[in-house]
Amino acid sequence: TPAQASVALHTGRTIGEISPLIFGGFAEHMGRCIYEGIYDPESPLSDERGLRTDVMAALRETNYRIMRYPGGNFVSGYRWTDGIGPKADRPRRRALAWRSIETNQFGPHEFMDFARELGTEPMWAVNLGTGSIQEAADLVEYMNLPTGTLYSDLRAANGQQEPYGVKYWCLGNEMDGPWQIGQMDAATYAEKAVQASKLMRWMDPSIKTIACGSSATSMPGYPDWDLTVLNHAYDQIDYFSMHHYAANPYPTVSNTERLPLDTDSYLASSIHFAEHADTLAAAIRVAKAKNRSKRDVHLCWDEWNVWYRAKGGDGDWSEAPHILEEEYNLEDALVVATWLNTFLNKADVVKIACIAQIVNVIAPLMTRRDAMFRQTIFYPLTLFSNHAAGHALAALVRAPIHDTKRYGGVSQLDVSASFDEATGRGATFLVNRSQTEPLQVTVTWENGAPQAVTHAWQMSGPDPLAGNSFEAPDAVTAQAIAAPVLDGAHATLLLPPLSFTTLLSQHP
Ligand code: AHR
Repeated sequence: TPAQASVALHTGRTIGEISPLIFGGFAEHMGRCIYEGIYDPESPLSDERGLRTDVMAALRETNYRIMRYPGGNFVSGYRWTDGIGPKADRPRRRALAWRSIETNQFGPHEFMDFARELGTEPMWAVNLGTGSIQEAADLVEYMNLPTGTLYSDLRAANGQQEPYGVKYWCLGNEMDGPWQIGQMDAATYAEKAVQASKLMRWMDPSIKTIACGSSATSMPGYPDWDLTVLNHAYDQIDYFSMHHYAANPYPTVSNTERLPLDTDSYLASSIHFAEHADTLAAAIRVAKAKNRSKRDVHLCWDEWNVWYRAKGGDGDWSEAPHILEEEYNLEDALVVATWLNTFLNKADVVKIACIAQIVNVIAPLMTRRDAMFRQTIFYPLTLFSNHAAGHALAALVRAPIHDTKRYGGVSQLDVSASFDEATGRGATFLVNRSQTEPLQVTVTWENGAPQAVTHAWQMSGPDPLAGNSFEAPDAVTAQAIAAPVLDGAHATLLLPPLSFTTLLSQHP
């Protein structure tokens, strides 16, 4: 008989309102994300604007609510004025961050067309590496002001009369990183971010700005960088950014040291993600108190994903170098599911999150000129994004504890849940982290039985390393399974080892 576990839910025991913006993506001018990913005029699958129709359809399935652009490291050397005006006149430049040639055939207008077509909120990063605070404010003027000034008139001349109204603005990217173009220390960055944010808001007071946190918990400056920036910039920002990548073996900041595979720890790595969010949430509270502020700042987890760095990150100065094309497997999908559980379980503090990235590089979709496939991580992302809504519920979980090298004793079952009062829909997300042991779980809705568990999907399989490919695009997917029949307010089901299960329930 399998081990037993229980999950108790109460629709009134909430953690916080789920911000739909936690289901976000990130599209950087990097490798083949933009060129040959989103935009590929030479593909038979592209429309008249050069947008890949198969990619657009898959991105719509994922239902991204916000899209960060244009970087990432790329943005720290990007001149946005290169990307406007007639395409034939746009300059070709070396993009230093990823050693590629930037043709600028995809720029601000093309991105806004793409975002509008997808129905996703744009989140724009300004260049605080080589860029000045004036250039950042000029970009806000170009994108958001009604005509009648230099840059807003230029926008109209380039075909867009109405302001775009971009609301979310990242103040640079990972400015603590030695790899960053224009790296600076925390105090210098904090002051530049404050001045940029001030100018940008004077240009358009309705915008929200996001300051950079440390680029990883493994950075030597973490968490001092975060405290310095938050304390200095608190009253000039709305969100504070955090980045986090995981891998098996655990990634190191230098990426030179390779540790042995440790799958049990990897499957428990959400413990570390949650700790990171807790530390920064506490830093935000300290900064709020220090600044005697009445405003709230929230976490913007604007880069997260599994990233092995197995495929080199250095381009060859070509237009769309094949760099960082990660291949994902079942265990990666399970880690992504636990990450999304973490977002729900931190719904009170995490209000924006963007998976890095959306196509080809570190991404749920992989293309070649004539085909595309969905990687394993596509499935948890899409299930959460389409079904988690309303409030996140604080689940009371009883499950066996298993031992891991990195985190000690860890619950075999990782859970999150949501309830949407407007529709009466509940969603429960369950990950069985064990590589070998099934788990019989009983979910109980403490304050009344749902009318039914209406849908259930499951991802599982014996091989944690199994993945999809052009040849076998559907080897590892989420399968619809029979929804468990209710016994009063209880639903009991078997979770295979290495599995991710989603249950939808309808409540009176
Ligand atoms: O997402 C890939 C890269 O990771 C981004 O450009 C950078 O911000 C981070 O280091």
